[in-house]
Order: sequence, then structure tokens, then C-alpha cells
Amino acid sequence: MTKTFTAHSADGVSGSRFGFASHSVEAQESTLFPEELRLIQGASEKRRQEFATGRYCARLALANLGVAPAAILSDQNGAPVWPGDVVGSISHTRGLTAAWVAHADVTKGIGVDAEYRRGPFSSEVFDAITTAAEKRKFRNYPQAVADTLCYALFSAKESVFKCFYSACHESLTLETIDICIDARLSSFSTARLGDGTGLPIQGRIGFCSDYVITVAWWPNWV
Ligand SMILES: CC(C)(COP(=O)(O)OP(=O)(O)OC[C@H]1O[C@@H](n2cnc3c(N)ncnc32)[C@H](O)[C@@H]1OP(=O)(O)O)[C@@H](O)C(=O)NCCC(=O)NCCS
Repeated sequence: MTKTFTAHSADGVSGSRFGFASHSVEAQESTLFPEELRLIQGASEKRRQEFATGRYCARLALANLGVAPAAILSDQNGAPVWPGDVVGSISHTRGLTAAWVAHADVTKGIGVDAEYRRGPFSSEVFDAITTAAEKRKFRNYPQAVADTLCYALFSAKESVFKCFYSACHESLTLETIDICIDARLSSFSTARLGDGTGLPIQGRIGFCSDYVITVAWWPNWV
């Protein structure tokens, strides 16, 4: 399954400057470039499969931008290194892999995250990744709503982490990212704890069967 993700038109972002692809079956390792294969030498079968499927999706997403297939290596922190003038992000979870890319003149950074919703969200993880304000807010929701929101919140934070890293080559800690999800559960804005000022990173949330997918980007004009 592949498709082009069109960013919200109200943001003035032309959809054709972004490329999105997702895949629900494992891609063959034979689709990898030799220098990519070297990155997963000695890795487990599961890791080799998810890596190959991530690169497969990434090249489909790049094709949406008109970018020819190329090797996508990893930097010293594991982040993908994109060809040419492109920023992008990859995520894999049980049964779903996604990649999202854009031209660097449109966005400074990009993040995508997919989460498989399996039962109640772990309260230990929730405590570890949330700000005090988020903890207060979530206390008031009924359990079923809170679980859905927690998966969305966690995924949004992972997307923002990846987006920030791709823009600044610096890692944030999830508990310092304050996420504000809109009432329709379709978009979010971000702030960073400490200075209280908003991070210029925008996000969208999508739900599909047992999955939540979030994307985050840092528009170049902010
Ligand atoms: C790096 C991190 C964001 C990956 O997210 P994840 O949900 O574990 O896994 P995903 O499948 O969604 O993403 C993996 C992909 O992220 C990308 N990635 C790895 N490190 C990255 C970084 N520093 N910046 C941007 N992207 C990165 C890679 O493309 C990787 O896939 P690949 O190795 O096949 O190329 C995550 O492990 C992390 O470090 N999060 C922040 C730390 C934290 O506080 N975690 C809380 C856990 S309770």
C-alpha cells in the first residue's frame, strides 16, 4: 500500500513537496543496496526485515518526490541519512512500516511514528514520558479514552523527537516535550519545557484499525 500524504492545505504546504509510503508486508533484503546490507550484518532476522522494509518504504516515498532510488545509510545515532536535498523519517511497528520525506527547502525536519495499539497503554511508560501538565490533563479522562490518547501522545512525542533530531542533530528527552492535541484528535502542537515557548513543530495524527500514525514537521518559514 503506498500513498502520497498531503499536508494540511491551511498550512500553505504544497502536498507534492512531501512523499509518504507505508507497507504492511515485509520487503525482501535483496531490495537493499550493498552499503545498506553492511549496516545490518550480524543483526537478528527481525531487525534485518524491519530495516529492509523501512528502506523499501523510504524509496517509495522518495519516488513520490521524483528522487531516484539511492542508499539510505544511518548516522552514529541511528538516524537515517537521506540523499541530496531531502529530509525524512522511518518508523516500523508490528505489521506496519512507514516513511515520510520532503524537500529540505519546505521543512527543516521531519518525523514519522507508527504505534500498534495493543491493550492498555503502559502506566510506567506514561509516567516516564509525560510532563506534569500532561499528567494532570490525562487524569480526567475515562480509561478507554485515555488509552487511545496515550498511544497518540507517545507517537506524537516520538515523531517530534525524530523531527527535532533531523532539524538540529540533537536529541530531546520525551518528558520535556509538551504536546497539545486538538479536540478532534487530528493535529497537535508542541512546546519544550523550560523556556515555555512553543517549538515550531506541527503534527498530524491518524488512526487506522489498531494503529496510530503521527507525522511532525518544522516548516522552513518559522
Ligand atoms: C530513536 C527512536 C525515536 C526510535 O523510535 P522507535 O519507536 O523505537 O522505533 P521506530 O520504528 O518508530 O523508529 C526507528 C527508526 O527511527 C530512525 N531513527 C533512529 N534514531 C533516530 C534519531 N536519533 N533521530 C531520528 N530518527 C531516528 C531510524 O530510521 C530507525 O529505523 P532504522 O534503524 O530501520 O533506520 C526511539 O528509540 C527513541 O530513542 N526515543 C526517544 C527516547 C525515549 O525517551 N524513549 C522512551 C521510551 S519509554
